Amino acid sequence: MYRSHTCGELRLSDINSTVTLAGWVQRSRDLGGMTFIDLRDRYGITQLAFNAEDDAEMADKATKLGREFVVQVTGKVVERSSKNKNIPTGEIEIIVTALDILNAAKTPPFTIEDNTDGGEELRAQYRYLDLRRNPVQEKLKFRNRVALETRKYLDSQDFIDIETPYLIKSTPEGARDFVVPSRMNEGQFYALPQSPQTFKQLLMVSGFDRYYQIVKCFRDEALRADRQPEFTQIDCEMAFVEQEDILQTFEGMVKHLFKTVRNVEFSYEFPRMTYAEAMEKYGSDKPDIRFGMEFVDLSSIAKGHGFAIFDEAEAILAINAEQCAVYTRKQLDTLTDWLKRPQIGAKGLIYLRVNEDGTYKSSVDKFYSETELKKWADAANAKPGDLILVMSGDLEKTRKQMNELRLHMGNELGLRNPNQFAPLWVLDFPLLEWDEESGRYHAMHHPFTSPKPEDMHLIETEPGKVRANAYDLAINGVEIGGGSIRIHDRDLQSRMFDLLGFTKEEALAQFGFLMNAFEYGAPPHGGLAFGLDRLVATMNGSDTIRDYIAFPKNNSGRDVMIDAPAPLDDAQLKELGIKLS
Ligand code: AMO
Repeated sequence: MYRSHTCGELRLSDINSTVTLAGWVQRSRDLGGMTFIDLRDRYGITQLAFNAEDDAEMADKATKLGREFVVQVTGKVVERSSKNKNIPTGEIEIIVTALDILNAAKTPPFTIEDNTDGGEELRAQYRYLDLRRNPVQEKLKFRNRVALETRKYLDSQDFIDIETPYLIKSTPEGARDFVVPSRMNEGQFYALPQSPQTFKQLLMVSGFDRYYQIVKCFRDEALRADRQPEFTQIDCEMAFVEQEDILQTFEGMVKHLFKTVRNVEFSYEFPRMTYAEAMEKYGSDKPDIRFGMEFVDLSSIAKGHGFAIFDEAEAILAINAEQCAVYTRKQLDTLTDWLKRPQIGAKGLIYLRVNEDGTYKSSVDKFYSETELKKWADAANAKPGDLILVMSGDLEKTRKQMNELRLHMGNELGLRNPNQFAPLWVLDFPLLEWDEESGRYHAMHHPFTSPKPEDMHLIETEPGKVRANAYDLAINGVEIGGGSIRIHDRDLQSRMFDLLGFTKEEALAQFGFLMNAFEYGAPPHGGLAFGLDRLVATMNGSDTIRDYIAFPKNNSGRDVMIDAPAPLDDAQLKELGIKLS
C-alpha cells in the first residue's frame, strides 16, 4: 500500500498511530535542527517534522527535498506544539521514521500555491502543474458535482443516457464546422457535431422518449470568455411533450442542481418573459434581472424640440442610474468614450442630472426647458440624486448599446452580485432572422424549430414576424441553455428548408435522412441543451468558463500545452489526399 491515509485526513484522534502518506512537497522550512515539510495531495496538507537531534540522517535527507518532489513517508502522528487553525490537519504533525523519494522534480516554473506568481500564459503551458493548485482543483470538483447531480436528476425522471457519433455530417447550429478528412473516402469529410441535434430527434422517432447526454460539441466561432471551440452540453430531448412540460422538467433540474450543489433554494417559479419584452426592456435576449434599470422610451417626449440628433432618430432610449448625479463631467466623458469604442459603436451619450434640490442639468439644456426635462425624469421615475443616461439612433443598434451601458452601470453600482442568482425563461423567440450579408433569412435557433401554429398564416407574407416555440434559460445575463419544440412533419420541415433558401436537392442531400424518418411515425417532440461549462461557472459565481475546463483552449483556439493545432507531415497529407495551397 502506498498510503494508509490521505494528506487531508489526520486529526488529534489519530495521535500515536503509525501512518504512511504519499504526496508532493509543497514547501519546506529549515529552522536549524528542525525541518518542517508540508506534504500535499488532493485532499489537503499534512505537516511532516524532522528533528536532527533524534535522527540526523533522516533530517539531512529532508533538507534535500525540493518543491514538488513526490515522496512517501511513514511516521507517528503527534500533537503539534504550535497549531495551525487554518487547516483541518493543523493540530497534528508526523514525526517521520521512513522517507522514500518516489520521484524528484525540477523546480516548477511558478509556485503551486493558492496565490501563484505564474502568469496566465505560463500556467496554460504547464496546465498539469496549474491543475495541482487548490483553487483550480476546487473548480473541477464543483463541475463534477454539477454533472453528477445532473445525471441523478435526469435518471430519476426516466431519461436514458445515449451516446451519439462525433464523426457526422454538418448540423446547422449557426457556427462553422470543424471538419475531419476521411482517409477511406478520399476527398470527403466528416463534420464534428455542433450539437447532437438531429440524432436526438431520430432517437425520439425510435421511441426512446426521454434522452440525455453530457456531450462535447464543436463550433468554429469567434471565442470569448464564455465560448470555447469544444464545450459540453447537457443535451436533452423528450417525446409527447409541449413546451410547458419541457420548461417544468428543466426548471426542476436547475433547482435540484442549485439546492444540492450550492444549497440555494428557489422557492418561486422562474420568471418568464417574451423575447419581444426582453428586447424592449433590456435590449438583450438574455437580460440580467438581478437589477432593474429598465429602458425608458423617450421618443414621444424628446422629439420635436429642435435637437436634430433626437428628431432624426428611430429610437431614443434612457436608463436611470440611481444616485449617480454625483458623476463628474470627467466621469461622464470617460463613459462616453467607452461607449464610442468600435466594440460598442455608440455615437454619443446625453445625460440629465436630477440635482438634490430638484433642479435639472443636462447636456442638451439648449434645446429643452426645465419643464421638458422634468418630463424625462418623470418617465424614468427619477428622484433627486439620480442620473438619466440617454442614447438614440437606429432601434436595434441603440438597444444593443444601451444593453452594454446598462450592464456596465450595473457593475459600477455593484448591482451584479455573483452569488445572487436570477434565472429567467425567455420565450417566443422569432423563428427567423434576416441576414444582411447573405440577403436571406436564417433560422434563429435551428431549422428544426417549430413555428407557433398561431403565426403560421404569416409564414409566406411576413416570415420575419413568425414566432417560434423556442425558449432560452438565462441566469444573471448568461445564456445557459436553449431549445425548442421541433417540427415532426415532413412537409413542414421541407417548407422550412425552402424558406431558408435551400433548394429541394440541397435539403434532401443534407437532411434527407431526417425528413425520411419523419415519414415513419415521428412523435411530437422537443428538447433543450444547457451549456454545462456556462452553467457550472455561473453557479459558482464566475464568468470565465475556461477555469472549469481541465484543458481549455486559448482565445486563438490553441492548446498551448500540447501545441495544437499543428501542421500534418507530408505523408499524412498524402494519405488523406490533401494538397495544401
Ligand atoms: P444552442 O446552440 O443554443 O442550442 O446551445 C445550447 C447551449 O450551449 C452553450 N453554448 C456554448 N458554451 C460554450 N462555448 C460555446 N461555443 C457554446 N455555444 C453554445 C450555451 C447554449 O445555450 N441543439 C440546440 C439545443 C436544442 O435545440 O435542443 C443547441 O445546440 O449555453
